[in-house]
Amino acid sequence: MNASRSTSRAHGRVLVHGAYGHTGRFVIDELVRRGLEPVPSGRDAERLAEVGRRYPGVEVRPTGDAESLGRAVEGVAAVVNCAGPFLDTAGPVAAAAVRAGAHYLDVTAEQASVRATYREHGDAAAAAGVVVLPAMAFYGGLADLLASAVVGGRTGGVEAITVAMGLDRWWPTEGTRITGERNTARRLVVADGRLAPLDAAAPRIWDFPAPLGRQKVVDLPFSEVITMHRHLGARRIVSHLSEAPLNELRDPTTPGPEATDETGRSDQRFAVDVRVLLDGVEHRALATGRDIYAVTAPLVVEAVARLLDGRSHAVGAVAPGEVFDAADFLAALSPEPLAVDLSEVVGAPRR
Ligand SMILES: NC(=O)c1ccc[n+]([C@@H]2O[C@H](COP(=O)([O-])OP(=O)(O)OC[C@H]3O[C@@H](n4cnc5c(N)ncnc54)[C@H](OP(=O)(O)O)[C@@H]3O)[C@@H](O)[C@H]2O)c1
Repeated sequence: MNASRSTSRAHGRVLVHGAYGHTGRFVIDELVRRGLEPVPSGRDAERLAEVGRRYPGVEVRPTGDAESLGRAVEGVAAVVNCAGPFLDTAGPVAAAAVRAGAHYLDVTAEQASVRATYREHGDAAAAAGVVVLPAMAFYGGLADLLASAVVGGRTGGVEAITVAMGLDRWWPTEGTRITGERNTARRLVVADGRLAPLDAAAPRIWDFPAPLGRQKVVDLPFSEVITMHRHLGARRIVSHLSEAPLNELRDPTTPGPEATDETGRSDQRFAVDVRVLLDGVEHRALATGRDIYAVTAPLVVEAVARLLDGRSHAVGAVAPGEVFDAADFLAALSPEPLAVDLSEVVGAPRR
C-alpha cells in the first residue's frame, strides 16, 4: 500500500473536487454527516474559500493547475470528483488520485468518460491497490446496483437488462447543461453482447409507480450501460428516460433546481425501474426517491465508506455492482434516501 494511504490521518480524508458545485455541496454535507473528513477542492480560489467559511476547521485545497492538483491529493484516502464535464476533468484527477495512492470516484453520466477512465487508469489503480470507480451516481451507479442485486452471483444467463428512469421534472444545473453540450458522442447500448451505437426507437409508454404514473419514455442510455456491460454479461442493455423532463432540460429557459427543504433538496421525484431477463424470467428492481442531484451524495459517500472500511471485493477500475455487495449497499440506503424494492419477479417476459 502507498505510504500516504497507510497514515491514520489519510483514513477518513476525502478530497471533493468541484466542491462548490451543486452536487459537490451535497457530497460535502454527506461526508460530514457520516463522520468522514471532506477536503474541498476546486479551481476557483474565491468560491473555494466560501466553502471553507461554511465548514470551519475544514482545509480547502485549490486546484488551478496540474501542480496544485498533485498537492491537493496528498494524504487523502479517496477523491470524489464532482467537477463535470468529466470528459475534461476525469483524466487528470483520476491520474493524480491513483499516483497518490487514493481511491478515485466520480459521478459522471457521460459514457465516453467512463470508458476512458476504465481504459486509462485501471492498470495503474490495480498496481497501486486502489479502486477507480466512475459513475457512482444517480445516472450510472444506481441502475448498475439494482441490476447487480437481481443478478446476484450468477455468471451467465442474463439475456437482457432494460432500465427506465422516470422523472417528474428536470430543472438542470449549469454543470448539467455544459456537460450535455460537451457530451456529443453517439450513445451506446449493448446488442448481441457488445457495445453498439444507439438506433433510437419511437417513444413508448412506461408505467412508473406514483406519483409519476404513466409516462412517455425515449431511448437514452447513460453511463449505466457502460458499467453494466463491464461485469454483468448481458446480451442486451437499453435505457429509457421520460420525455417531458428531457424537454425541460433542452429548454434554455428552464430554471435550475429549487431547494425546498433545509438540506437543499428539491421536490423532484424519480423512479428507476430495472428489468432483468434472467433465464427466461423477467425480474424487477425498483428505486424511488427525491432529487437526482441530492441522492447522488449518499450513493457516492456510501461507496467511499465501503472502500475505506474494506467492504469491497476488488481493486483497479470497477463498476459499482462489481466491487460491492449490491443488495447490501442498496439496503443501507433504504428506505431513506432511497426506497428500494428488489423482491418482484414479473414473470414471463414480453417478447
Ligand atoms: N450521474 C449523475 O447522476 C450525476 C448527478 C449529479 C451531477 N452529475 C454531473 O456532475 C457534474 C457537476 O454537476 P453539478 O450539478 O454539480 O454542476 P454545477 O453546480 O454547475 O457545478 C459544476 C462544478 O464543476 C466544476 N468544473 C467544471 N469544469 C471544470 C474543470 N474543467 N475543472 C475544474 N472544475 C470544473 C465547476 O467549477 P467552476 O465553477 O470553477 O467551473 C463546479 O464546481 C455535471 O457533469 C453533471 O452532469 C451527474
